[in-house]
Amino acid sequence: MSLSMEEESLLQSLEQQRNWDGLPMCKYQGFWCPIFILRPLLSFQRNFKARDSDIVLASVPKSGTTWLKALLFSIVNRNNFPIDQSPLLTTNSHKLVFSLECFCYTKHDNPDLENVPQPRLFSTHLPLQVLANSLINSKCKIVYICRNPLDQFVSERHFLLKKQRDKPYGEMLPLEEAFELFCNGVHAFGPFCDHLLGYWNASLENPDKVLFLKYEDLKRDPLSDVKKIAEFVGLPFSEEEEKAGLVGEISKLCSFDKLRDLEVNKTGVHAGTVKNKFFYRKGDVGDWVNHLTPEMAERMKEVLEAKLTGSGLVL
Ligand code: A3P
Repeated sequence: MSLSMEEESLLQSLEQQRNWDGLPMCKYQGFWCPIFILRPLLSFQRNFKARDSDIVLASVPKSGTTWLKALLFSIVNRNNFPIDQSPLLTTNSHKLVFSLECFCYTKHDNPDLENVPQPRLFSTHLPLQVLANSLINSKCKIVYICRNPLDQFVSERHFLLKKQRDKPYGEMLPLEEAFELFCNGVHAFGPFCDHLLGYWNASLENPDKVLFLKYEDLKRDPLSDVKKIAEFVGLPFSEEEEKAGLVGEISKLCSFDKLRDLEVNKTGVHAGTVKNKFFYRKGDVGDWVNHLTPEMAERMKEVLEAKLTGSGLVL
């Protein structure tokens, strides 16, 4: 959908910049908003009516969204589908948990979300400060996942390079230039430090509202985080379920190797353009060492020290 005149004049008043792959972005309410989601975002802000039972997964892109969607879907729907009949076996998790700004509000300003199965699961890459008021003011739950920014940068760059081959927006910036922009917070949905801090602080202020997870913890001890998520969303595993090994079964179903090797994720396409396989690259912690220099890591350390010191958030 194109922008209305009012939205067009809003856009003209905003600072604009291209992402590392040439994607046009504008700075809206403090964050770098891909211009193609400006209209869906405004519609979401205006029209979204949260329910207390909603669960919203939030993340910076390439922090583990695909994985957390699979886990959340499996936890919430564990009584609807036995593991060996999980929809995840035939459907990519992005089609099971809809993105608010990249899907729900892209075709309609006020989509009918009444029939989304309860509890409704949504995802967003939006920073906390631009979420619809209704979502903030309701009792709905937000599960946030973050990741070491060096790994996240490497993951995002690979993703954009692959996407670029199918649908180029422009020239891809050289690695060093893209990294410098990233450190300065210039990337889709960035600055990442502000994104992280928004949700981190909210999780401290209101731990019943926001659960803050780290990709690295999930990798190290998935069972513990699966139980934590289930408790947080009000669906704790019973003793019988734990004894029956359901927590482990869900972790295994959602593991990188299992999901990557499914036919749907080898050959399927997401939102008409992005191949599902692009969402599964390596799934490693610390892969940045294979792509970035020690000097770049040092630069990131300085950025994190400047932005996160005193927050209690350690990445
Ligand atoms: P890498 O590129 O480092 O491999 P997002 O889902 O937010 O787009 O993040 C994608 C990153 O998560 C990619 O990281 C991808 O490989 C990794 N990933 C996807 N599914 C995963 C899973 N089930 N377990 C662990 N990592 C996963």
